[in-house]
Amino acid sequence: MQSTMNAYEIETWLRETDPIRLEMLWKQADLIRAKEVGDQVHLRGLIELSNICRRQCLYCGIRAGNSALTRYRLTNQEVLDAARKAIQFEYGSIVIQSGEDAQLDPENIARLIRQIKGETDLAITLSLGERSIEDYHLWKQAGADRYLLRFETSNRRLFQVIHPAWKHDRLNSNDRLQLLRELRGLGYEIGSGVMVGIPGQSYTDLTNDLLLFRELNLNMIGSGPFLLHPQTPLGQLFLADRGTGLLQVTEWTKEQRAFFEQNDLPVLAIDDQVAHSDQLAFKVIALARLLCPRANIPSTTAIATIDRENGRKMGLSRGANVVMPNLTPLQYRRFYEIYPNKAASYETPEETHAQMLQHLAAIGRIPGKGRGDSR
Ligand code: 5AD
Repeated sequence: MQSTMNAYEIETWLRETDPIRLEMLWKQADLIRAKEVGDQVHLRGLIELSNICRRQCLYCGIRAGNSALTRYRLTNQEVLDAARKAIQFEYGSIVIQSGEDAQLDPENIARLIRQIKGETDLAITLSLGERSIEDYHLWKQAGADRYLLRFETSNRRLFQVIHPAWKHDRLNSNDRLQLLRELRGLGYEIGSGVMVGIPGQSYTDLTNDLLLFRELNLNMIGSGPFLLHPQTPLGQLFLADRGTGLLQVTEWTKEQRAFFEQNDLPVLAIDDQVAHSDQLAFKVIALARLLCPRANIPSTTAIATIDRENGRKMGLSRGANVVMPNLTPLQYRRFYEIYPNKAASYETPEETHAQMLQHLAAIGRIPGKGRGDSR
């Protein structure tokens, strides 16, 4: 169990169900976490800048096609106020995230970055999707430190299906790996990650995802369970009259089969389909820690959404060393609905902050000091 693990060993862990063996995995991940990145938990204040998106991703609730959603974009003043809250709460960094909002003016983002940098020592992470290299360059020059862009799945065909290309894409393969390399070349710390349990994602795919984390030498690795949003194509196809039991099914429906076939995806044996459970997400965190011992790994909101009380704490006890408390003003939060019942959708930044501190105290961990740069 170490960073030299091979594909066979990784897949065996992903399929492991024996609680005693799993306990060994959690222990080992926690040990390596303590040894390599210590007991500090870095708090990254998340600011959800805009839920406007030109994309039609089949999984995501803020996709352009969701006409039921109220759209918003924060003003610079609102972002600045949120950044000041991060200072007040003693966070070392903020993450500015948004949909692929075509109207986001790159110059204005650069101005915002300079303003925040002029006023604070916060590290700034951007997560604004697929943009031009000029934009990435401009924002780096303005002072941005890190960029998050999940590749979502290393299975190329599956990615193309769930993330349809857009006519203005500059890389017609919409190749996020290429973008991550560019971002690193520009001097950003880079973060990526995947969704766990996408319909059509096999254990072999997920194994390849983990191997790719290591190969890319990521500074940050954020992953969480895939969650079904009823206002999305995948939600409609896989949620239909199955309640919450999705993908723990014993066989695919006729419609689900047809979806795979029409999209040139293999119809997986049910045993090969990755479950979209919190348990699988914990395995990905733990294995990511073993494969990339020094990476910054968050215990994500999607995990907290499955288990509000214990999700974040369990992620932190199984390899994670970062949390991303939401700083988005309360009145906008519920509209950044990438999946339903998202944790903290009805809390103020103060409430979310207090809860994070409680979680940390409950497991004997301490809030990080400083920016929490990647080592
Ligand atoms: N379930 C889980 N995660 C999702 N994301 C988007 N939609 C969903 C969903 N339905 C994740 C993607 C994206 C990140 C910001 O949120 O991985 O990169």
